[in-house]
Amino acid sequence: MSFTVLGTGKAVPKYVLTNEELSTMVETNDEWITTRTGIKERHICKDETITELTVQAAKNALENAGVTPEQLDLIICSTMLGEDITPSQACVIQKEIGATCPAFDVNAACSGFIYALDVADGYFVRKKVKHVLIVSMDNLSNIIDWQDRATCVLFGDGGAAVVLGEGDDLLAINLTAVGNDRVLRIPHGTNSSPFYRHPEEKAVLHMAGNEVYKFAVNAMSTGIKKVIAEAGLTEDDVDCVIPHQANIRIINASAKNLGIPREKFFCNVNHYGNTSSGSVPLALDEANRAGLLKKGDIIAMCAFGAGLTTGSCLIRWKGKD
Ligand code: UT7
Repeated sequence: MSFTVLGTGKAVPKYVLTNEELSTMVETNDEWITTRTGIKERHICKDETITELTVQAAKNALENAGVTPEQLDLIICSTMLGEDITPSQACVIQKEIGATCPAFDVNAACSGFIYALDVADGYFVRKKVKHVLIVSMDNLSNIIDWQDRATCVLFGDGGAAVVLGEGDDLLAINLTAVGNDRVLRIPHGTNSSPFYRHPEEKAVLHMAGNEVYKFAVNAMSTGIKKVIAEAGLTEDDVDCVIPHQANIRIINASAKNLGIPREKFFCNVNHYGNTSSGSVPLALDEANRAGLLKKGDIIAMCAFGAGLTTGSCLIRWKGKD
């Protein structure tokens, strides 16, 4: 016995930063961003806090699932950037929605949602839980160097939540990590401790985009292939792929490598950019609410990110009876 997805819900900030507006802030243009990434706009937290967004996503998912906060046995939040270092963002969500269950955060950067699913799976297998809430959210706009055109055009804020219940709809899941603090890293900022001996660095995202790109295309293809094989299925059995929304070129190249028709890949990177761990569940929620996921559909999800981490899984969609 593992889990089934009972409901999904998203939350994104109101403010939309278009490529045109970004072009007035840094030396870039809509043509470059669109052709290199597929991104047209992203949502940025101006008025909202990460707590408001995570709580909104949680409430939307609970409502969609028909589950009350009192029924939750566990809350996992995947984030790199909770409101505070401690308490965990999951504990803050627990308080705000009125739940009483254990709660903790996981940090696997953009792969965080799939890592959280794998952790939740363990709780279901051990029969410790009947309902689990996973909220995946980052507000990367806080730690982007808005003068670095190579990175600031790529990311946005927002994310989503899922509610899991008992079931047999997780068909296969696979996580990987290759320790690498060179190609993608966000350091802590300054520190006033007289004992702090690390070099002073700005707390902004540093990335070697080309290296992440190559890693990503390979990770998406091998990750999805692996879970399909583990489930005893073939590429033809996959009805929908929900990929990490980092770059449309990564998605297109992965579709080609996998031999899965590109039309089966759900994409919303044009509207949100890369929302880190929020990316896969945000796409899952939009596909769900657009009525694109049918009862019994086989869905592949895959993400990659700092670590370097990857997560891939194959689920059967329960849908509504
Ligand atoms: O969740 C994981 C997060 N990370 C990723 O997913 C990143 C994966 N990597 C990528 O998506 C791509 O590597 C990027 C979109 C980051 C970059 O695309 P690229 O095709 O690899 O471009 P590049 O870095 O090779 O840069 C090509 C040119 C350079 O100019 P020169 O040296 O050829 O004259 C850059 O300076 O484009 C220039 N450039 C830009 N020009 C206009 C870089 N950023 C910009 C920009 N606007 N925003």
